[in-house]
Amino acid sequence: MSMHVDVFESRGAAERAVAAEIAALVRRRPDAVLGLATGNTPTGVYAELVRLHREDGLDLSRVRTFNLDEYCGIAPRDPRTFRAWMEQVFFGPAGIALANTHFPDGVEHGRALHLEELPRHVEAFERAIQAVGGIDLQLLGIGRNGHVGFNEPGSTRASRTRRVELHAWTREDAAKSFGGLEHVPTHAITMGVATILEARALRVLAFGAAKRALVARTLASEPDPAWPASYLRAHADARLVVDRDASV
Ligand code: F6R
Repeated sequence: MSMHVDVFESRGAAERAVAAEIAALVRRRPDAVLGLATGNTPTGVYAELVRLHREDGLDLSRVRTFNLDEYCGIAPRDPRTFRAWMEQVFFGPAGIALANTHFPDGVEHGRALHLEELPRHVEAFERAIQAVGGIDLQLLGIGRNGHVGFNEPGSTRASRTRRVELHAWTREDAAKSFGGLEHVPTHAITMGVATILEARALRVLAFGAAKRALVARTLASEPDPAWPASYLRAHADARLVVDRDASV
C-alpha cells in the first residue's frame, strides 16, 4: 500500500499542477464536486484557480463544494468561520455559487443548531454528498498531529462526519487567528475518515520543511488511528503533492 508522491521544485509549481488538474476536471465536468480544505496549505491552489477564472475563462459557477470541517461555538456569520474564509479567498473571487457550497457547520437557515440536533445535521451532510454522486476530488492538508480534516489522533477508519473535540496542538495552531488560545473553539465538526476515503481522488498537499517529518510518518505508517493521515494510503487514487522542502 504505497502512496504516489509528486515532488515539485517549488511550492508554486505544485500549486499550479494541482490547480491545473482541478481546472481540467471542471472543464470536462462543469458541475464537478470538489472537496475543499482550509488552512495555509491550499491557499495557492485557490489563488491559481481564481487566476484561471479571471484570465483564462475557467467557469466555476456550477461547481459543487464540500468543505472538510468547521468550528463549533462561533456565530454563523463570524469572520473566523471557515465558511467566511472560503467565501473571501475562493468562492467570491472564483465565481462559485454560494448555494452550491456545503459545510458541516451545524448551521441551518442561519441558526446554530443545538447539540441534540447535530446527528440529524451531519447525516444530512453525508446524504448531500451522496445525492450529488460523491466527491470527485478532495484536497487535504496534514496537521502537526497527523490529523486530516479534524480527524484527530484516535479517529477510526470507519468514522463518519461528526462533532469532535479538538486536540491541544490543533487549538494551539489556531490560537493566532483567534487572538489567543482561550478564544479557540474546543470542538468542531469534521468529515469522517470513511467519508474522505469515498472521494474518487485525494490530493494531499504538504509544503515546507516543517511538513517533512509529517510526510515521512504518513508514508511509513501502517493504517493507524494514532496517525490518521496514514489511512489515506489505502486509497486507490491518492497522491501526496510536495515541494522539495517537504519531500523525504
Ligand atoms: C483544514 C483542515 C486541516 C488542515 C491541517 C493543515 O480544513 O482540515 O486538516 O489541512 O491542519 O493545516 P495547514 O495547512 O494550515 O498547515
